[in-house]
Amino acid sequence: MNARHPDPLRRALLQTLGLSAALAALPFVTRVAGAAGRPERIGVIGSGRVGSALGGVWAAAGHEVMFASESLDHDRQLAARVGAHARAGTPAEAAAFGDVLIFAVPYRAMPGLGQSLGGALKDKIVIDASNPFANRDGAIADQANAAGGAGLMTAKLLPGAHVVRAFNAVPAAQMAQEHETPGKVGMPIAADDRHAIEIASRLIREIGYEPVLIGGLSMGRFLVPGSPLAGDHTPEQIHSIAATLKP
Ligand SMILES: NC(=O)c1ccc[n+]([C@@H]2O[C@H](COP(=O)([O-])OP(=O)(O)OC[C@H]3O[C@@H](n4cnc5c(N)ncnc54)[C@H](OP(=O)(O)O)[C@@H]3O)[C@@H](O)[C@H]2O)c1
Repeated sequence: MNARHPDPLRRALLQTLGLSAALAALPFVTRVAGAAGRPERIGVIGSGRVGSALGGVWAAAGHEVMFASESLDHDRQLAARVGAHARAGTPAEAAAFGDVLIFAVPYRAMPGLGQSLGGALKDKIVIDASNPFANRDGAIADQANAAGGAGLMTAKLLPGAHVVRAFNAVPAAQMAQEHETPGKVGMPIAADDRHAIEIASRLIREIGYEPVLIGGLSMGRFLVPGSPLAGDHTPEQIHSIAATLKP
């Protein structure tokens, strides 16, 4: 593999992100390391900027990924571009398929998804990248604030699932590239379930971030854009900032 023959994974991810025009200018960078340990079955619910970036890297690492959104055609094309280990389905099919689900949707979609997916969410590990914004998502954002923040609200909206807040306040384009320089940037996470934390942490490392548990789901309210934890911080910086935040 060299600069004149770019890595097909990288091409797929860049195309997914609408950056294919930049391909020719980019040097070859390291491939995603193969999945260390058991491959997971991952349902990606919301296959836009965030979902496609994360799902693309996980598929390249050897996990089995199903993309889902409101457009099956889009997801079939995305899965074809990502290639091996990727497929497309409806949200219900992705929820049934995945032992781990990533939710990367506008937060206003969460109540409806929780209702329609219902029992399929029981005991699933849900990584929740979705953020409630009042100007985009309407009343559900105020309800999330009233409920103690997005972590507790997502757990309420997706009963039976083991929720991990993660990937909430770094740019999607960076999520597709962080595996090239792994471990430098920390990823603050909030969750209550030990097994979910272990599995999510492994998947986060494969994306290229070092996970830092800042507390239980009640701390999830700090995992949104604009909070002191938003943006790039080293794992040590995340520990320091989190110590100043009150649950
Ligand atoms: N963009 C970022 O840099 C970034 C970073 C961190 C976190 N976030 C958060 O992550 C979430 C996703 O952001 P994004 O930038 O990836 O958004 P996006 O590019 O607009 O993608 C949103 C995805 O959600 C799908 N979707 C919407 N309603 C749905 C429903 N009812 N059922 C199933 N799928 C549905 C959309 O499918 P259709 O197109 O078919 O409707 C689309 O695939 C947001 O809450 C955002 O705040 C974003």
